[in-house]
Amino acid sequence: MNEMLEPAAVAAAEPTAASFCAFARDEESRRAIEQVAGELPFGRTMITAGTIRTAIEYLGAHRSPKVLMVDLSGSELPLTEIDELADVCEPGVTVVAFGEQNDVGLFRELVARGVGDYLVKPLSPGLVHESLLRALQGTGAGRRMNRLGRLVGVLGARGGVGATMIACGTAHAIATSRRRRVCLTDLELQSGTVALTFDLDPSHGLREALESPERIDSLFVDRAAAKVSELLHVLAAEEPLDEDCHPHPEALSPLLAELRSRFHFVVLDMPRPGSPLFLPCLEQLDELVLVADPSLAAMRDSLRVLQTLAKCSGACHPTVVLNRIGAYRTGELDPKEFENGIGRKIDLRIPFDAKTVAAALNAGQLSFAERGPVGQAIGTLARIVSRGPAREPRPLIRRLLAFWR
Ligand SMILES: Nc1ncnc2c1ncn2[C@@H]1O[C@H](COP(=O)(O)OP(=O)(O)O)[C@@H](O)[C@H]1O
Ligand SMILES: [Mg+2]
Repeated sequence: MNEMLEPAAVAAAEPTAASFCAFARDEESRRAIEQVAGELPFGRTMITAGTIRTAIEYLGAHRSPKVLMVDLSGSELPLTEIDELADVCEPGVTVVAFGEQNDVGLFRELVARGVGDYLVKPLSPGLVHESLLRALQGTGAGRRMNRLGRLVGVLGARGGVGATMIACGTAHAIATSRRRRVCLTDLELQSGTVALTFDLDPSHGLREALESPERIDSLFVDRAAAKVSELLHVLAAEEPLDEDCHPHPEALSPLLAELRSRFHFVVLDMPRPGSPLFLPCLEQLDELVLVADPSLAAMRDSLRVLQTLAKCSGACHPTVVLNRIGAYRTGELDPKEFENGIGRKIDLRIPFDAKTVAAALNAGQLSFAERGPVGQAIGTLARIVSRGPAREPRPLIRRLLAFWR
């Protein structure tokens, strides 16, 4: 089936977004694209009049298609506009641009920004067919591998140290201040508190996916995730305590691959060490945030996690956060003592501030808006994990665009 839908109709049909969208200024280009889109195995298609600006506005508010064609003609700053488009699209999109300029320099710059192809007008059906066929093949497993969102794990050295608060706050901060699509996922199926934090109804979808990986398909996220906002989605469960949950470690890779093809960031409230998902999860992370409080028990458990990481070949370098500083007052470890105990520096210190955290919780969003010391620390953490470590000198925009390649 290959129906043509107007933007309004597609919006109404969300969340099943069009798998192919094209924005073309002129009738001739639209006709060529329509003819070819009808011949290729796209599901739902949307071909409409518009410039790249129209595409940016549309995709800022709607789900991205798998393949997108945009018209650069008339654009004075095509590269800047392609950068803006990259910011609003989901990572898994293949972009075919077209325009009037027959310029190898422009072509190279576009490709360097992650654009799949650039066609020079007038568009003929033959030209469009060849390019879209390549784009369709490019959306297969092989190419998507390079265009995945960043996976950030938040792990509490032990219970009660504030890992969930930090995971929720960081996910919210990345979505709001950095304007990136984020999926916050709670892998503790029975005792997780992410859904509770955001006052959301937990779904059974996550358990189903982890117990029966064959159910993970492109519609899974739409069925199972709850939307806190257009940019922040939450995947969390609250399975009954008297049932045995059996998440399969093998389900993790397909689940994360699906999430990472749709979101710029996947923030995981990590399962406890000892859970069957813990080690497979650790190996896939791009960033790990290890949270502790200044207690002897959390110091010991942080050291044990760091030792486990050192033995785990695929694990990344963790960011160590000391949270709830000042909660106990007496008997609390000094941060220096804590550093000596774990044999490395603390990267970020967060004070105990019941008032700020309670206010953020009451707002139902863990939105700190960088206010107060807790909010500022969460904002810093969001920058650390979303920009990547300092050893990566490329500016943020370049790395985000690398998702498309
Ligand atoms: N910096 C902080 N200041 C005040 N309260 C905090 C702080 N960090 C966490 N909390 C509170 O501590 C409790 C435990 O936090 P939580 O995130 O559930 O821990 P975990 O997920 O590690 O078990 C929650 O009530 C949370 O609101
Ligand atoms: Mg927790």
